[in-house]
Amino acid sequence: MNAVAPQPTRLADYTPFSFEIDSVELTFTLHPTATRVRSKIAFRPNPAATDPTFFLHGEGLNLISAHIDGTPVTPRVTDTGLICAVPDAPFTWEAEVQINPQANTALEGLYMSNGMYCTQCEAEGFRKITYYPDRPDVMAPFTVHIDSDLPVKLSNGNADGDTWHDPWPKPAYLFALVAGDLVAHSDTFTTASGADVALNIWVRPGDEDKCAYAMDALKRSMRWDETEYGREYDLSVFNIVAVDDFNMGAMENKGLNIFNSKYVLASPETATDRDYAFIEAIVAHEYFHNWTGNRITCRDWFQLCLKEGLTVFRDQQFSGDMRSAPVERIGNVLQLRARQFREDAGPLAHNVRPESYIEINNFYTATVYEKGAEVIGMLRTYLGADLYRAGCELYFNRHDGQACTIEDWLACFEEVAATDLSQFKRWYSQAGTPKVSASWRRDGDTLHLSLSQEVPPTPGQPMKEPAKIPVVLGLLAGDGTEILPSTLMDLDSPNLDLVFDLKDLGGGTAPDHVVPSLLRGFSAPVVLDAALSAQDRALLLAHDTDPFNRWEAARSLLREVLVAEITGQGTSPEQVARRDMVLSALQDFCTDESLDPAFIALVLTFPSEDDLTQAVVDAGLVPDPLIIAQVRDGRMAAVGDGLKDILTRYYLDLDPGPDYTPDADSAGKRALRNTALMLLSTPQDLALARAQFADATNMTDQLAALSVLIKGDDREAAQAFEAQWREDRLVMDKWFMISVASAPASEALQVAQDLSRHTLFDWKNPNRFRSLLGGLIANPAAFHDPSGAGYAFVADWLIKMDGANPQTAARMSTAFETWRRYDADRQALMLEALDRIATAPGLSRDLGEMVSRMRG
Ligand code: PHE
Ligand code: ZN
Repeated sequence: MNAVAPQPTRLADYTPFSFEIDSVELTFTLHPTATRVRSKIAFRPNPAATDPTFFLHGEGLNLISAHIDGTPVTPRVTDTGLICAVPDAPFTWEAEVQINPQANTALEGLYMSNGMYCTQCEAEGFRKITYYPDRPDVMAPFTVHIDSDLPVKLSNGNADGDTWHDPWPKPAYLFALVAGDLVAHSDTFTTASGADVALNIWVRPGDEDKCAYAMDALKRSMRWDETEYGREYDLSVFNIVAVDDFNMGAMENKGLNIFNSKYVLASPETATDRDYAFIEAIVAHEYFHNWTGNRITCRDWFQLCLKEGLTVFRDQQFSGDMRSAPVERIGNVLQLRARQFREDAGPLAHNVRPESYIEINNFYTATVYEKGAEVIGMLRTYLGADLYRAGCELYFNRHDGQACTIEDWLACFEEVAATDLSQFKRWYSQAGTPKVSASWRRDGDTLHLSLSQEVPPTPGQPMKEPAKIPVVLGLLAGDGTEILPSTLMDLDSPNLDLVFDLKDLGGGTAPDHVVPSLLRGFSAPVVLDAALSAQDRALLLAHDTDPFNRWEAARSLLREVLVAEITGQGTSPEQVARRDMVLSALQDFCTDESLDPAFIALVLTFPSEDDLTQAVVDAGLVPDPLIIAQVRDGRMAAVGDGLKDILTRYYLDLDPGPDYTPDADSAGKRALRNTALMLLSTPQDLALARAQFADATNMTDQLAALSVLIKGDDREAAQAFEAQWREDRLVMDKWFMISVASAPASEALQVAQDLSRHTLFDWKNPNRFRSLLGGLIANPAAFHDPSGAGYAFVADWLIKMDGANPQTAARMSTAFETWRRYDADRQALMLEALDRIATAPGLSRDLGEMVSRMRG
C-alpha cells in the first residue's frame, strides 16, 4: 500500500510552466533492456509564469548525466522528476538516461511488443522516456535520431534517413517512436491544394494483405476533413503502425498513429462487419485528431473533451456520411446508453470536464468521449450547420499552434453566432443524465404540451441548475400523417409549456388524435419520460418520419413487455394482449419492403440484459440477473416463433452471396440475416446455425452462428473454431470472448476458469485479457452468480493484472460500478471483492482511485 495517500490534481490550481521550449532533439540508442535516450532541449524563461522552479517530470529513469550549457550539473532527483538550478536566461539542457523497454508491461512509455519497439505517451508516458515538462501546454518542434539495427525506424514528422523532424510544435504526449521488422502497405494522397503525401500502414510480415480497408478508410477520412471542415494534412508522410499489445484503441501521435492491431487488420475470413466499421471509425478518429488535438491541443488534461468529444463527434459524422446516418445514430445512442448512462448513474459519475483527478488515465471515459461528443452535437443543433462550421473555422484560425480550454472553444461560437453560451456550458460542469418529462392534454383544437427537466444528484454535486436541452419534436395525426415537422424547442428552464393550434397544423381540421414524436434523432443525452400509450408507440413505429424515434418506439415496447414479464406480471390478460399487440406491430413493420435491412435488424434486436437490469431498477425493483436472462431468451424465442415466416424469408432472401464486401449495404443484409438466425434458433433447434457455421465463408456469418451454437451448449462447434483459428490472434480474441459471453449462465464461469488456464491465455496482452474478463462481465447471469464466484474471479484477475498493467486493470474494474443496483447479498459480495482489491499489496494509483470512488 502507498504510505502517503495520492494527492488529487485540480483544475483550479492550473499554472503555466516556468519555461518555454524552442527545440527538442532526442537520440535513441535502442536495446531491449538498456536503451539510452539523450536529450538536448533549448529552454527559455516563460514571461507568463509566476514560479521560476525548473522541474522536469521523470519516472523510472536511470539518470546517467545532465548538463546545462555544456557544464555538468547534479539535479535533485525524486520519484516523480527532478529539480535543478538554472540560469534566468535561455539555456540548453542535455541529459542522458537509461531505460528498460523489455520490462515495461504497463505499455506506457517505450515498450516492446513481439520484438518491436513502440511508444505510448498519452497522457503522461513521456516522463518514462526522459526528463521533460510532460504537460500538454508545453509545445515544441522535435528532432529524433534512432540508432538501431532494426530495418524500420519511425518517429513523428518527415524523415531524413534515420532522423525524423517534426516542424509542428507539439506536446510530449504526441511523441512516438517505432522500430522493428515491419512491412508497409503503401499508397499516396494528394491534398486539395495539391501536396503529395506518402501513406504507409506498417505491420508484421504476413499481415500486409490485411491493410487495404484501413488504407481506404484513411484516404476517405483525409478527403472528408477537407470538404467538411476545410482541414488539410500538413506533412509529406503519414504513417500508421499496428501493434498487438496496446492499452487502448489507437493513438493520434503526430504523423505516426499507433493502432491496436485489431483496429487495422481485416480480411473477410477473419474480421466481422463490426470490425470493419470500427476500423473505418477509428482510422478516421485518429486522423481527425491531426487538427482537433494536435495542431490545437489541450491546455491541461481537464480539457480532454476539447479534443476527444469533438473528435468523436467528427468521426460519428464521418461514419454517418459513409454509411446510413440513422443506423449510425442508433448505434451511437445504444453505446451511449450502455456505457455513459450507466457511468452517469453510478458512483463514477463525473463532469464532461472533470475538476479533479488522482490518475488522469482513469478519465478516458464514456462521459468525456461520448457525452463530450453529444455536447458538440447539441451545440451544432442550436447553431445550425452554417454557424457551427463558421465557429470551427474561427477556432482553427485563431488557435492553431496553441493549447486551449473549453472556454476558448465556446468563445468562438459565441462570437460567430453573437450568442451567450453560459447556460449551455453547464453541460461541461454538471454530471448526471438529465431526466426530461413530457405530458400533454387536448383542449378542443389546442394541444398543450409540457416539458420539464430534472438533473439528478451525483457524487459531490447534490444540487443542479437547469440544463439547456434541445428538444426536437414533431407531431403525428392518428392516421400517421405528420402535421408538424421537426421543430427545435429549447428546454432551458425547469418547465416549458408549448401550445399548438391543431386546426392550423391540420390544414383546417384538427385531427382526432395527435401523437408527439419527442427528442427526434435523440437530440439530447437525456432520459425521456413521455406518457405515450403502447398504441401511440406502435403508431410511431409504423409512421414516424424520424427513423430514430421509430426504432425507439419498438425498443420501448419490447422493453416494457420484458420488464412486465421479469417482474412477474407477464401472465395478466392485459400483458398477454400487450405482447400480441407488440408482435403484430413488429410484424407490420417488418413487411415494409422499402426499409434498410440494417435498420430492421436494429428494430428486432432485443434490449441487452444490462439495459433490462437498469429498467427493473428504474421501476423501483431489485433485479435478478438469472431471471432477466431467462425471460429475455424466452421472449426472443417467442418473437422468433411469431415472426417465423418473415424471418425465414429474410434468411433465405438476404444472403449477399460468397463475394464478401464490407460496405454498409451488404453488412446490413448480413446483420438482418443473423438477427433472424438468432431469433429463429433455440437450444433445441440449432440446425440452421449448424449449417451456417459449416458453410460460412466470412467471419461475420461464422461468428454469428458460433454464438448461437455456444448458447445452445454445442461444445464441438467451439472446438472446431479453435482448431481452425488457433494461429490467428485476433480471431482467438473473439473466441475467448464469445466462449464465455455466449455460454449458458450455468456454465460460463467454469468456461472462464478453464480458459484462464488455456495455453493461449496470454493474460499480459490487453486484448486477450479483455476478451476473457469482458466475456464474463458481458454475461451478467454468470458474473452475478449468487455464490459471488464471478466477482471473486474478476477481482483475482484485476489484482494480478494491476501488478503488470494498472491502466488495463483499472478500466476493467468498472464491472463493479453498478453494485448498488443489486440485492443485499450481492451488494455485500461485490463490496467484499472491492475491499479485497483495495487492500491488495502494491495496489496502483489507477486501480486504487477507481475502487475508492466506486466504494463511495
Ligand atoms: N487519444 C487516444 C484517442 O482517443 C486514446 C488514447 C488515450 C490512447 C490514452 C492511448 C492512451 O484516440
Ligand atoms: Zn481520440
